[in-house]
Amino acid sequence: MSSARVEPIRPIVAPWAPDSWRTRPAVQMPTYPDKGELASCLDELKALPPLVTSREILGLKQQLADAQEGRAFLLQGGDCAETFSQCSSDTITNRLKVLLQMSLVLVHGLKLPVVRVGRFAGQYAKPRSADAETRDGISLPSYRGDIVNSPEFTEVARIPDPRRMIKAHARSAMTMNFVRSLIDGGFADLHHPEFWELGWVEQSPNAAEYQKMVTAIGDAVRFTEILIGRRMQSLSRVAFYTSHEALLLTYEESQTRQVPRADGWFNLSTHFPWIGMRTADLDGAHVEYFRGIANPIAVKVGPGVTPDALLRLIDALNPDDEPGRLGLIHRMGVGRIADNLPPLLDAVRREGRRVLWVCDPMHGNTESTSNGYKTRRFKNIREEIEQAFDLHAAAGTRLGGVHLELTGENVTECLGGARQLTEADLQRDYRSTVDPRLNYEQSLEIAMLIVRKRGGMSDPQGDS
Ligand code: PEP
Ligand code: CO
Repeated sequence: MSSARVEPIRPIVAPWAPDSWRTRPAVQMPTYPDKGELASCLDELKALPPLVTSREILGLKQQLADAQEGRAFLLQGGDCAETFSQCSSDTITNRLKVLLQMSLVLVHGLKLPVVRVGRFAGQYAKPRSADAETRDGISLPSYRGDIVNSPEFTEVARIPDPRRMIKAHARSAMTMNFVRSLIDGGFADLHHPEFWELGWVEQSPNAAEYQKMVTAIGDAVRFTEILIGRRMQSLSRVAFYTSHEALLLTYEESQTRQVPRADGWFNLSTHFPWIGMRTADLDGAHVEYFRGIANPIAVKVGPGVTPDALLRLIDALNPDDEPGRLGLIHRMGVGRIADNLPPLLDAVRREGRRVLWVCDPMHGNTESTSNGYKTRRFKNIREEIEQAFDLHAAAGTRLGGVHLELTGENVTECLGGARQLTEADLQRDYRSTVDPRLNYEQSLEIAMLIVRKRGGMSDPQGDS
């Protein structure tokens, strides 16, 4: 049985400002050696135009509210970390293709709208387990993502450089611009799913199932258009939203603005920022920053979070229980989810709090191989998702989405999947500088798994 809360809710009444996080302990943040240069870079960033609009942000909040209520499903995915050098046409289109194909599988199988959110156009800052990295007796500051420093193991490369924030902003804008142009130009048109096909799709073990579905959708579209006597223009465009871990608060503050016809402060660098597991301390700078912005936000929930701590976080981040405001992305690991998730689900349901539950089956399942690669086993990723659906069903809560690290490239970073990748395969095409990602085939397999699992279940709260 779960225990009652130890203290009543105490609303936080302290005033908030885009820079009030500076009064709190800020972990995972670089120390810039040249304060004058930092200040001038931030001034420049504050004057640049925003990357997204408040209208889009509020539109996404509405869609996330739908996912929370079982009327839609969230697909959030992309790279662990974007890099400046991979801001290229192929990387962006391939990632978009995978996300579109996965969402097609989900829409078809779940018979629900899919909310598509990329981990891109700003995913440049990374939390690290240690502030310094030591090699052969030499210690240097850790690499913290391209927005902070450079990965080469030299003193110069590792010095935090504030000009990198301006470059990250520009790269994010280029990525957004290209994604928007592709979509506006009909790339995501449901009349032409062949536009999103990747070269090697025919050889994939999942190809037959995917092609059967594409044919069925094509037939349904043609049938409906004949029946209504016109082409359905709404099928030509889909909405795509962006998200990133808002870790580097100096950058996020510079993009936090008020707009003429909406209340509050918006982070206009992305639609849906999230708080990482290592920065989710209730009294820390990140929670302070996030509580004051009007965007929909999420927080990663790891195995160490107690029910009481989670309820306090919810009080701080969504005191009014606003629909679509708060996503809780649990990332427990396959060995711990069965013990650690149910008490959290029970507490949130018992207190009647309204949140969007999302499963990240990646970050609790990272391991190292004997040949020195950081990897994840497909089997563990699959089982964590399966267990998540079952545990939510048992608790009477609803899993409203998934959060994945994936790429459209045919990399060999995660073990297993339809092609049974082995440890020996990892060296063939391991490209990630941080976490191992699902490749195209493994991603599609996860989408099919979600359909089998969620599609075969009645909605836990029965109102969709
Ligand atoms: C991430 O999403 O890349 C990440 C670092 O996750 P977490 O905060 O859950 O460890
Ligand atoms: Co990661």
